[in-house]
Parts: sequence; structure tokens; C-alpha cells
Amino acid sequence: MRTDRCGDLRLEDQGRTVTLCGWVGRRREHGEHLAFVDLRDRSGIVQVVVDGAADLRSEYVIQVEGTVRQRPNDTANASLATGDIEIDAQKVTVLSAAEPPPFPLDDRTDIDETLRLRHRYVDLRRARMQRNLAVRAQVNSAVRTAMEEQGFIEVETPMLIASTPEGARDFVVPSRKEPGSFYALPQSPQLFKQLCMIGGVDRYYQIARCLRDEDLRADRQFEFMQLDAEASFVNQEDVLAFISYTVASATESVTGQRPGEIPQISWLEAQERFGSDKPDTRFGMELVELTEVFAGTEFRAFQADCIKGIRIPGGADLSRNRLDDLTEQCKQWGAKGLVWMRVEADGLNSPVAKFLTDNEQSALRQTMEAQEGDLLFLVADERPAVRHILGLLRIEMGRPPVTEGGLNFLWVVDFPLFEGIDEAGNPQPAHHPFTMPHEEDLELLASGDLLNIRSQAYDLVLNGWELGSGSVRIHRGEIQQQIFSLLGISPEEAQEKFGFLLDAFRYGAPPHAGFAFGMDRLIAILAGEENIREVIAYPKTQSGADPLTSAPNPIDDRHLEELGLRVLPPRQ
Ligand code: AMO
Ligand code: AMP
Repeated sequence: MRTDRCGDLRLEDQGRTVTLCGWVGRRREHGEHLAFVDLRDRSGIVQVVVDGAADLRSEYVIQVEGTVRQRPNDTANASLATGDIEIDAQKVTVLSAAEPPPFPLDDRTDIDETLRLRHRYVDLRRARMQRNLAVRAQVNSAVRTAMEEQGFIEVETPMLIASTPEGARDFVVPSRKEPGSFYALPQSPQLFKQLCMIGGVDRYYQIARCLRDEDLRADRQFEFMQLDAEASFVNQEDVLAFISYTVASATESVTGQRPGEIPQISWLEAQERFGSDKPDTRFGMELVELTEVFAGTEFRAFQADCIKGIRIPGGADLSRNRLDDLTEQCKQWGAKGLVWMRVEADGLNSPVAKFLTDNEQSALRQTMEAQEGDLLFLVADERPAVRHILGLLRIEMGRPPVTEGGLNFLWVVDFPLFEGIDEAGNPQPAHHPFTMPHEEDLELLASGDLLNIRSQAYDLVLNGWELGSGSVRIHRGEIQQQIFSLLGISPEEAQEKFGFLLDAFRYGAPPHAGFAFGMDRLIAILAGEENIREVIAYPKTQSGADPLTSAPNPIDDRHLEELGLRVLPPRQ
């Protein structure tokens, strides 16, 4: 139906007769007889000069036959790739009339999210969405190529499965053949990819759809895509190298530049310096250790296990109101209090300065490298609490928008095996229960010093977002049993939930390790978007609904009966 695409035409095409198809964008009248119409398709926009009487409204789908000609010099549009030319239309055919669009299609207006999603097919026509979908396709393709270059083969794993242990709630699907029984939708292909290793696949990858019933946020959807990978006869460094290569290829496919080697930091160092296991290293404001400085202090609030501070360069002019709000915010994060200090020419200006000796004040200024005009924040508490609160405050004070500060990839290694102890007294796995403890820390398993056991687990972080996680796996049944029992999972329960995996380990399991990263998160950051919804063609709203198809919706009684289900009235 067409000879060319709108956005491809240039001055060299001058004189050619072309046929184009697309949507009518802006229209400007020029006297009675002529109108300028922006014709749009996926490739871009071109200006068409038509008979002013033609009935061409916004978003009509038309076919135009015409001649490419140079625009008069003073009317060229430098901001448009086709801005040097226009199409002198000889024939215009309306292929499809259109009602006025529910919202303007330019990128300048902020449109209500629900309205956008209800008419997603219109929203997708906008340049921003077209670009994001193109970035997504590029990244998918680059990731596949990079994995295949490294000897990985794509294996598809099922969607209707028994529960996987990623720690979120399962989405479940009722079984018609076995009323009262349910499939779970996969939170990840974790168990299947480990079984693939036992099955001799050697290097597996999949761009896998994962489903998790959890509260949605800017970086979380119910359904999302992972680059999921697993390899046999490899160690941690091998996996880091595979994944580094792949994210570098993905980045290059979008930015044209291959990022350098990705630095590594230990989990503990990340916590101490950034107060986070996913540090945003695009900016400074690192946590400064002050425990020694106040070792003998008389100030009660600082007589604590740990004191750290952050320095906000030039922050001294923050208003008292803002400082009060930040103090309140820190308390909501669990802080006992927040000390702020303005660094002034004649000393530290702070409500608590009078409680600190001159020596303490000057040691503080020195340790924090404080300059006149800076603002200092100090928190005293148990060490993990200090890290947590200052980590959040640091992000609040310094985090740049997604489009600024570059792309800072970072490997965080040596995660602890357990991240805490739950109410029932059982340790909580920091990653998942198939993660291999650090060889050197294996003996601590028996000693009971559980929180100090390091694991062979690692995360990839990009600009403060957790991009992905992985680990070297336990490939020996007896260590796996030991971990299950530490986690408070009885042998019967372990057999019931993961019996198939434990069985498989008895038939020759190779040492193996793997990783998965969130494709949506990587694509969002590469596309310069703050929310992964912007890079997903048909996402859910924050509340988990799809305004386009009205999912989720009730099903009729006959269908319920067939599945052996009865719906209870909503709980009060
Ligand atoms: P994990 O649970 O850390 O590890 O998930 C890996 C990555 O998947 C992405 N992700 C999400 N993206 C969007 N919406 C969500 N709701 C969501 N949940 C997770 C994140 C995350 O870092 N099987 C293990 C990996 C392994 O051990 O190999 C796993 O799934 O970017
Ligand atoms: P108080 O002695 O509780 O009145 O606190 C005096 C000042 O110290 C207030 O500004 C508190 O916000 C601050 N403060 C109290 N406890 C802590 C703490 N653990 N860490 C940092 N600041 C604190």
C-alpha cells in the first residue's frame, strides 16, 4: 500500500512520486485552499500539503500519493528529520475515519494514567512509547545474541507449575480436572533451570515471564520479564563475567557505547558506605563512620553502638521546615532521632552543638571533611539501623533523576546467607534456600552463628535499582537438607514441596550457578524512564488492574462450578 515510510524521506528524494500511509497528526490551515497536515507512522512524521477542503481530522488513517519537494527555505524545520521536504499531495484516500482521540498525542502533556491505559492503543502511537518499545526490542535481541555467543541455549519452562520459593505470594490457577487443586504461576523458572543442569543442558537461558502477587511500585509489576540463566561447572566469577558481557551488549545496543568493567563491592562494604545493598553510586554523600569520634561523649543520644553521618555539600541553607520534615521522615523509617548541623564560619550551628565538646566538634568536622556551607546529618543507634536510615536519607537528599549521572553498574558480592531471624526463631534466607554458603563459612552452619555466614550470592545494581540476583547453588542433597532444617522446614515438608529437586540431586547433579535480571528494569533505565510501566506495552496500574480489558473480572457461576469453586462475600 505504500512505497516509503513517512520518517525516511529526505532532500535526496526530491521529485519522487511516493505513496505513504499513516495517521493524521497536527493540521494547520493556510488560507482557504491549502492545509498542512503532519502524517505519522512508526518511522516519524512528514508534512503533507493537501487541498484545504479535505475532511482530514486528527487520527484519521489515510493514504497519500504525492510528490516530494523541497520546502521553501524559510519554512524548513530543523527539529524534524524530514524537515527539509514536504509532500505535495495529488491524491488522498481516507482508509479509516477516527473519533477525536481521548487525549493529545504530543509528549508535552501529562495525561492521567488510567486514561492512557484504557486507550493504550492510542497511547502507543506517541513518539515516546514508540521509542520505548523499540528500545525494548533492541535489548531483547542484544541479550539473546550475547547469551548465544557465550554458548547458552534457550529452553522454555512451563507456566502451570507447583509453587516456587522466591518469597512473594503465588498467583494460582484452579484445576478443572482436579477440583480443589491449583497450579501456581512461576515466580521464576528457578527449579526448572536447576533441573536443566541435572539434565545436562549445561548452559541455559530464557527471557522468562515471571509472576508475583506483591504490592506494585515504580520498579514492580505482577508480571515481568527476566533474563534467566544457569550454567554448569562454573563458579561465581564465571557467572559475573557472563552477565557483565550480556548487560554490556544490551547497553551498547541502545546507547552505542559499551560500558567498562563492572566494579565489585562486598555486601558489608556497601552497607557501611552507602547504607544499602543496592547503592546508587552516581553521587557521593557516603556514610562516614563517627563511632570513634564520640567514643567518650557525654551527650546521651550519642552513647550508642554506632554513629555515622552524611555530608550534604552546600546544604546549610536548607530551611528549618525542611529539616523538621526530614527528621520526621527519619523517625518514620525507625530512627530514634536525627541530628543536623550547619557548618558555619564560626562553628557548627545545631540544637545539639552545646552538648558536644570542642574536641568532638573539631574531630567531627575533620572526619567529615566539612566545608563552610555544608549540612551534616548524624544518626546514632544499633549499626544496622544507622546504616538503614542514613542509606534512605542519602537517597532522599542526593538521588539524581534517571536521565542524569550516567549508568553505574555495580556487582554486590558476599551477601549474608540469612538476612535475619523471623518471629518463630527461624533464619530468613537472604536470597533463596538453594544458595550455597561460602566454603570458608560452612563450619558456622553447625555452630549456630548463622547471621555471620556469607553466601555465594551476588546482586547486580544499576543506578540504585536492584537489577538482578543470583548464586552458586547447593548441588548436594545433604547440604540442602541441612539448610532446610535450619530454615525450620521439616524433612516431610521439604519432601512435599521440593521432593522432586531433592530426588533429582541423587541422580548426578553437576555443580552449577546462575542469575536472573529484570529486563523491564534494565530497559526502563536505558530508555530514561522512572517507571517500568513506560516500557511495557500493556502494564497494570498501581492497583493491579488493567483498565483496557477490565481484568481482573468475575467469572460466571457455571465456570466456577466446573472448577469446584465457590466465592465468599468480601471480608470486612
Ligand atoms: P529475584 O527474585 O532476585 O531472583 O529476581 C531477579 C530480578 O527480577 C526482577 N524482579 C522484578 N521486576 C519487576 N517486577 C517485579 N515484581 C519483580 N520481581 C523481581 C528484579 C530482580 O532483581 N530465581 C532468582 C534468580 C537466581 O537465583 O538465578 C530470582 O528470581 O530485577
Ligand atoms: P533528646 O535528647 O532525645 O531530646 O534528643 C536531642 C537531639 O538529638 C534531638 O535533635 C534528637 O532528634 C537527636 N537524637 C536523639 N536520639 C538520636 C539518635 N539516636 N541519633 C541521632 N540523633 C538523635
